[in-house]
Amino acid sequence: MIFLFVVLLVFYLFLHETISFTYNRLKINNKRLFLSTNASPTTSPNLNELIELTKKYQVEAISLLNDVTSSKEIELFRIAFLGKNGKITSMMKEMKLLSKDDKPKLGEIVNLAKTTVEKAIEDSINVIKVKEMEDLIAYESLDNTVQIESIPNFYSAPGARHPLSLVLDLTTQIFEEIGYEVISDPSDSPEIENDFFNFEALGMPPSHPARDMQDTFYINTENINTNETLLLRTHTSAVQIREMEKRKPPFKIVAPGRVFRKDDVDATHYPMFHQVEILAIDEIGKLTLPHLLGTVQYFLKTMFGEEIDLKFRASYFPFTEPSIEVDVYFRGRWLEVLGCGMVDPAVLEAVGYDSEKYAGFAAGFGVERFAMIMHNITDIRLFWENRVDFLSQFPPTPYGIPGEDILEELNDDGIIGFDDYN
Ligand code: DAH
Repeated sequence: MIFLFVVLLVFYLFLHETISFTYNRLKINNKRLFLSTNASPTTSPNLNELIELTKKYQVEAISLLNDVTSSKEIELFRIAFLGKNGKITSMMKEMKLLSKDDKPKLGEIVNLAKTTVEKAIEDSINVIKVKEMEDLIAYESLDNTVQIESIPNFYSAPGARHPLSLVLDLTTQIFEEIGYEVISDPSDSPEIENDFFNFEALGMPPSHPARDMQDTFYINTENINTNETLLLRTHTSAVQIREMEKRKPPFKIVAPGRVFRKDDVDATHYPMFHQVEILAIDEIGKLTLPHLLGTVQYFLKTMFGEEIDLKFRASYFPFTEPSIEVDVYFRGRWLEVLGCGMVDPAVLEAVGYDSEKYAGFAAGFGVERFAMIMHNITDIRLFWENRVDFLSQFPPTPYGIPGEDILEELNDDGIIGFDDYN
């Protein structure tokens, strides 16, 4: 009997030490948060003692909760009381030492303590989250300009739009004015694409030779949970497929965005550049080749000036039929500026459209190319070197507020127009 008592006592002391150790580890420096003495029974536990202890922990938890002020602390608090070795949870383990009749009695008290503390934690999480959100909003709405201006001798030169932003804004503006919807949400136009949207649905199955023209960055998906082939999109044409899948004709969209190709950097190549894509789909007969040619002509004349000379050349793209490339005559030379065509019926069928019922056209162009032609820039690398002497040559920002009607101002001021560069 005495032997059994000694064994039980040793076991109890061991358990007690383990719990206190775990509990103390969770103490937060300089905080009263979890600093309480462990009031475990010193003799062999009996039911009443364990019940008292459980209730004590419950009271302690509820009162300590008032000191918890952040989401991080509340998690530590939860672990200390309700975690696997938490104070309240551990009382369950004490049940082993009780008689069959006493076990459920303690169980009931421990469960009550658990649910009470859980509920209190939940309430306090809600209060803390609201407070944290308020603090964040207050922080983010600090008026930093006031602080910066108060620095003595602070001087800020007026900024200027990046030449590529100018072309992008002007392009979307021109198409918006003739009823095209701008695809501006990044989730509708992702830069990380899958093979289907970038190639396959556009008439380029895996072994298609047209893929060679768009040397592609593939993403290593070994450690990503996906069966898809992921890549950095090589053109904005992928957005055509995404939008067709989402929409029912008629619609007209314009999608600006960044694209990537594994090109070595030189004066005319850069592994990242910008494109703008347009797509218009309607009932068959409503959008024909002349509509495409008229739209492209209207766009280029608005962009470069009324007197620009254009040349349409037959070409090939896997997703248009017929396919056309367009050149502009600029500074004594014909320069290729965009690709376009009537959407291939196979593409329409790939997204589930009836190609006997719907037809349309698409076009895409490189924004860097446009800016280079407009401003006689001969080295594409200048766009990314952040040189103030280069960037400050472009007009400052009388139209710099996004959403403002920039086109009229641009035309009135003649800031960008083919005439300026003749
Ligand atoms: N995606 C093509 C490229 O990057 C350009 C292009 C050609 C886009 C014809 C189109 C199109 O929408 O119809 O080379």
